[in-house]
Amino acid sequence: MSTAVRFHDQHVYAAGSSFRDDVIAGLGRSPKALSPKYFYDERGSRLFESICRQPEYYLTRTEEGILAGAAEEVASLAGPESLLVELGSGASRKVRLLLEAMRPSRYLGVDISRDFLLQSTRRLAADYPWLEVHAAWADFSERLRLPSGVDGRRVVAFFPGSSIGNFAPAQAEAFLARLRRALPPGSGVLIGVDLVKRHDLLEAAYNDAAGVTADFNLNLLERMRRELDAEVEVDAFRHRAFFNLPASRIEMHLVSRQRQAITLEGQRFTFEEGETLHTENSCKYSMAGFQALAARAGYRSRAVWCDDEALFSVHYLSSD
Ligand code: AVJ
Repeated sequence: MSTAVRFHDQHVYAAGSSFRDDVIAGLGRSPKALSPKYFYDERGSRLFESICRQPEYYLTRTEEGILAGAAEEVASLAGPESLLVELGSGASRKVRLLLEAMRPSRYLGVDISRDFLLQSTRRLAADYPWLEVHAAWADFSERLRLPSGVDGRRVVAFFPGSSIGNFAPAQAEAFLARLRRALPPGSGVLIGVDLVKRHDLLEAAYNDAAGVTADFNLNLLERMRRELDAEVEVDAFRHRAFFNLPASRIEMHLVSRQRQAITLEGQRFTFEEGETLHTENSCKYSMAGFQALAARAGYRSRAVWCDDEALFSVHYLSSD
């Protein structure tokens, strides 16, 4: 049995943005905003795993149900011996639903949280001794390139969880087009997309009763304290999530309970009472709406699955 994981440290942060630079830019902007990719430090990644287990957060269990039922069909669409690349692999749990049916020869997990990625790919390698496991620490929203040594073969890119929803529709289209150009011919994309539905169900999913989503959101401020030595009164902010109907997205914000400031490297960023730091957009699509977006990005829609209540969808797109 092999538990070896080939690790590719892509260090893409240095090339583009960094947490510090983006915090300074984001707090200086009006309205204040920060990219949701910064949620996922080690604590944030753990909190996210806990969100996925909350009863209100229907996305994870619904997608897992769809994947379990679709695995055989996905395997026949993908063909044998592919390289399975998981974008935002997190705990690498969903991919387990595909591995037995697909029997890819290689797996590459890509995630922004380094230690989390290493732990979960190590577990995967231990559980699937026949699988060659690779891990790449990378911010795939910035740069898409397969590490050398895993390139050159037919790829199935697995992008679960409706993470595509973090992009605005135009950016999602541009990202998918870029992904298509980065994949060798004959590749496929298996992507989970959350659907528009009753607003109370959508809003409950981002306002769980146990307060885990609130902690996840507020962790951004804790992270500013931990990593950047920022002076922040975390308790003076509260979590807010609501459905923005015209934009068809859940928005998450950190709302300032009072007039106050965050201080970072001697710079003061003032908040009025009620002013917010916008921390996330999570766009929701109709099935047809997402298929049209994928078509504009150059894909052919080969299959789409959803659950009985039409809460969530999974699409198989081919790159040519
Ligand atoms: C990982 C981006 C899909 O938008 O539902 C969960 C992140 N934020 N609860 C989502 C998230 C708050 C999640 N995505």
